[in-house]
Amino acid sequence: MKHFLSIEKSSADELEALVGAAAALKAARAAGDLSARPLADQCWGLMFSKSSTRTRVSFEVGIRELGGHAMFFSSRDLQLGRGEPIEDTARVMGRMIHGAIIRNDSQADLERFAECSGVPTINALTELEHPCQLVADLLTLREELGGWRDKKVAFVGDADCNMGRSWVWAAKHLGFELALAGPEGYCPPADYLDGVGAANVSVTDDPLAAAAGAQALYTDVWISMGREDEAASREAAFARYQINPELLSAAAPGAIVMHCLPAYRGKEITAEVLETHADTIFSQAENRLHAQKAVLASLAQF
Ligand code: CP
Ligand code: NVA
Repeated sequence: MKHFLSIEKSSADELEALVGAAAALKAARAAGDLSARPLADQCWGLMFSKSSTRTRVSFEVGIRELGGHAMFFSSRDLQLGRGEPIEDTARVMGRMIHGAIIRNDSQADLERFAECSGVPTINALTELEHPCQLVADLLTLREELGGWRDKKVAFVGDADCNMGRSWVWAAKHLGFELALAGPEGYCPPADYLDGVGAANVSVTDDPLAAAAGAQALYTDVWISMGREDEAASREAAFARYQINPELLSAAAPGAIVMHCLPAYRGKEITAEVLETHADTIFSQAENRLHAQKAVLASLAQF
């Protein structure tokens, strides 16, 4: 059984194949060709315990475009939200649905579901990773910069969140330079990075140093879902870690700006920078659809 649970557990070949497939699906859709139906007559379940705009909509549309049927369940809808074990939920759902897409706060529960359900399972964001976002981001790098080979990406902000860690693994597998900039306590710890073992990944508390010469500046919210009670301390800690004109001027000429969204203007990015780079940022959001379809199609064969 094949799943898509993390960038960590994916290989360079798998990531490159997903990005290639996403680009092909995007081109076909633009040409009006929606004939690929690898999910024909299948039912896929989305189980989300956190909010979502992009991930939910792109999966629901993507499943339909690939010929399948999508069912959305919030944790309020499922007995899981009232304490039914994940293993029982998985064994029930696995006898009825063809695949599962899960957004929760527990990579361990996601992996347990994948083990027990017997159906392909996709990580739609956990506390550790957001791998589907990374596939869309890589497609965006390919479109905007021609790829990631010999490129430098600077991730500025909450470098130890699910997005920062997904970028670390992508850099490890694909070999591009990744500079993470965040305040003390909000960067991947040294023992984690030692375990990754990627000489092309660096960490600094200086956002200008990270941005220096980068072809892509990337940020995410300062306050991830579930961290709302830390808002005041995070806003104080992250005040210097903003994509603004000064940071852009340290980057390579013509650098692109990326944001997984949702964006908080005046926090991790200024309104001006966001609007100037809106074409890239909203293409990146659109690429979620093409990336999800590539992930779904790659698992539907199993
Ligand atoms: N980037 C992203 O995953 O957005 P949503 O939370 O809206 O799905
Ligand atoms: N780090 C963010 C990503 C949102 C898409 C969060 O977990 O809320």
